[in-house]
Amino acid sequence: MQPLRIGMIGLGTVGSGAARLIQHEAERMQRRAGRPIELRAVAVRDPAKPRPIEIPAERLTTDPMSVVNCDDIDLVVELIGGIEPARTIVLAALEAGKDVVTANKALLCEHGPELFRRARDRGRCIAFEAAVAGGVPIIAALGQSMAGNQTTCLEAIINGTSNFILTEMFHKDQPYAAAVAQAQALGYAEADPAMDVDGTDAAQKLTLLTQLAFGTRVSLESFPIQGIDTIELADLKYADELGYAVKLLATAKLTDGELEMHVQPTLIRRHRPLAEVDGAYNMIALRGDAVGPTWYSGQGAGQMPTASSVVADIIDVAIGRAQLTFPRLDLFEEHTPIPVQPAEKMYRRYYLRFNVDDRPHVMADITDILGRNGISLASVIQHEAPELDEAAGDEPAPVPLVIMTHRATEGNVRQARRELEELGSLRSALVCMPVSD
Ligand code: NAP
Ligand code: HSE
Repeated sequence: MQPLRIGMIGLGTVGSGAARLIQHEAERMQRRAGRPIELRAVAVRDPAKPRPIEIPAERLTTDPMSVVNCDDIDLVVELIGGIEPARTIVLAALEAGKDVVTANKALLCEHGPELFRRARDRGRCIAFEAAVAGGVPIIAALGQSMAGNQTTCLEAIINGTSNFILTEMFHKDQPYAAAVAQAQALGYAEADPAMDVDGTDAAQKLTLLTQLAFGTRVSLESFPIQGIDTIELADLKYADELGYAVKLLATAKLTDGELEMHVQPTLIRRHRPLAEVDGAYNMIALRGDAVGPTWYSGQGAGQMPTASSVVADIIDVAIGRAQLTFPRLDLFEEHTPIPVQPAEKMYRRYYLRFNVDDRPHVMADITDILGRNGISLASVIQHEAPELDEAAGDEPAPVPLVIMTHRATEGNVRQARRELEELGSLRSALVCMPVSD
């Protein structure tokens, strides 16, 4: 039996997990793949670094190109992340006649067309299950199991770090910065955690899912992207009081022949499965025209869940399945581009929080602006503030005012925001989040 000989580039959080499965579960791997899987060479930055997995010194190198160009390697597994040198390594591996497994959504989002074209030209394949939603097999689901459907709606929690932070803040009253540090320590965050909390990572994954689900290529610049980095605990608590959970939600849905797309902190009604996804778990809710609604969930970040997807791809290559499905996947080939809906046209409900002076006519000014912009109120919360003793010199303190709207266009909401932000009674920036019922 000819073994599948692997060259791994990167032995960090994900690489060590994948190496552990390959080495410690060799018999299981061989049974599933039909042939032995051997880790022949590993490239790292610092060979002296202590690691949770033992790699013989002669198999460790700091030169990825020596792995890529080695005749004894059949498959290159890229697990260093980022754009360069990952792009150069993947292109060189394909050029050298190797198949590629990668978990790198940033690379695929930015250079997918170039890499996939090169793979097709060279008769090789690129497998990337771990690039979206960690351990959740969503690429296989979309590429194979949902193949008979036209996806009509995709709503997803696909950044484990953000979901972990929101959960820690809400359930444990953990300050934002401490929750970020914990996500990093647990291996959930990207090398630059700003990519997680500013929405970029989720947006990169959404463009890959959109390619598979709708067959259209969308650039990051063409839809609204907002992260959780400005979220306050108060908003998580008000949302809960209203019967909602706040999640970083990535959405792509067909609306009147256009694709409505956004990545934003969103209030999700409590009874929905997406609202119950906590910690580093991810969930993708997909609606197909034949199957109806489906949900895919599991750990979206972390060492072993992500390694599970990397190893699934390795086994697929060992069997020869990836080489068959890759050309059929048609990824990054655009047959019928779907226009992205202009943000101004998006028609949704909104959560608004104001910090305002507690004095006459403030509420009237706010509701006047909303009403004149065609925005109707669904509910209002203003908790009673202590009665002032003006004779004793009490200064009025700002009070939070929370408004849930009925559906309105984003264009109207943006215009109202501009007018609201001019109000002298506003004591801090207005908080505005969409609602998904
Ligand atoms: P990581 O822990 O930072 O590991 C990166 C590895 O790459 C390290 O072993 C590092 O070597 C090595 N490396 C970096 N630059 C190199 C270079 N120029 N030459 C050789 N080796 C180099 O990253 P990670 O969390 O495992 O993430 C890897 C990939 O998986 C990324 O694309 C990420 O987006 C993706 N991913 C991660 C997760 C997750 O939960 N962490 C989940 C899904 C997908 P040293 O160890 O010597 O520094
Ligand atoms: N940093 C990513 C996340 C890893 O938190 O979801 C999985 O892609």
